[in-house]
Amino acid sequence: MKKVSLTGIKPTGILHIGNYFGAIKPALNLAREYDARYFIADYHALNTMKNGAELSKTIREVAAGWLAAGLDPDRVIFYRQSAIPETFELATMLMAFTPKGLMNRAHAYKAAVQENSEKGNDADAGVNMGLFTYPVLMAADILLFDSDVVPVGKDQTQHIEMAADIAEAVNFTYKSEILRIPRAAVEERVAVVPGLDGRKMSKSYGNVIPLFAPEKELRKLIMRIDTNSQGIDEPKDPETSQIFQLYRLFARDGEETALAKRYREGGMGWGEAKEALFAVVNRELAPIREQFAALLSAPEKIDRILADGAEKARPIARATVSRFRRAAGIDF
Ligand code: TRP
Repeated sequence: MKKVSLTGIKPTGILHIGNYFGAIKPALNLAREYDARYFIADYHALNTMKNGAELSKTIREVAAGWLAAGLDPDRVIFYRQSAIPETFELATMLMAFTPKGLMNRAHAYKAAVQENSEKGNDADAGVNMGLFTYPVLMAADILLFDSDVVPVGKDQTQHIEMAADIAEAVNFTYKSEILRIPRAAVEERVAVVPGLDGRKMSKSYGNVIPLFAPEKELRKLIMRIDTNSQGIDEPKDPETSQIFQLYRLFARDGEETALAKRYREGGMGWGEAKEALFAVVNRELAPIREQFAALLSAPEKIDRILADGAEKARPIARATVSRFRRAAGIDF
């Protein structure tokens, strides 16, 4: 049997080039070898997004983004977390096996508590139970689908370890392999994608290049990338230039070596380097951008794909929940 790859996508904010290389592409690559189950974690988003219209819009945009970027719903089971009620049944069962102390140690919760104490607020000010129990819901997402590997960013590895701990507690209790033990797949080879200011591209730094920016805006953003003050004639070091680091991600065949040579020779100014970057970025993103627009103009298509995915996912989820209920003595 093929191994299972699963990941959750939080529908918050617009997708950018950092997400494309750091999350989308690695997950789609895994989908070639594994049975892939990828979903939109909409109940997770509810912890922070309370505007309903905004949340629905973001769910469809993120789904359209992944589909446009190449997710093939015939090969990947693609669904919304909220369409799988077994998730919440499993989450409740897992609560009984999750030490409260484990949740106290979760990074996101600890960071919120620390921020409160620095500001002199009550330790739990602004912390809802959704944030506190976040790792349990995430464990349910993962354990429900017999996941072997979970492609995530480094910041999520603690959550996967917690899911594995909780699953082991269940298996140990019933002396049987009810839940499969997952592990995180952190793509170490993925280069850090530099943002406009040279720091890691991240929404929180406000330095992103959106994946679906219209062509004109894309060019403008690329022209805004910070550079040093080297003149046109001076030889330039491609390794220290974020323009080149971005170029490398989009280059094909011999393009990378050819451009590196031009950097080193001198005679190419930053304006020209940015034009070269724009050309390769736009070459890759133009078709994806079109596909994205086409999907968003037919949202019922997106909804259909997600609903079909949920239909394929539910029998797997039901089997896990039944196995657990039987072992727990509450299935008669
Ligand atoms: N917590 C993940 C994030 O913030 C999203 C997520 C929810 C997830 N459930 C998951 C990721 C299950 C992997 C597996 O990005």
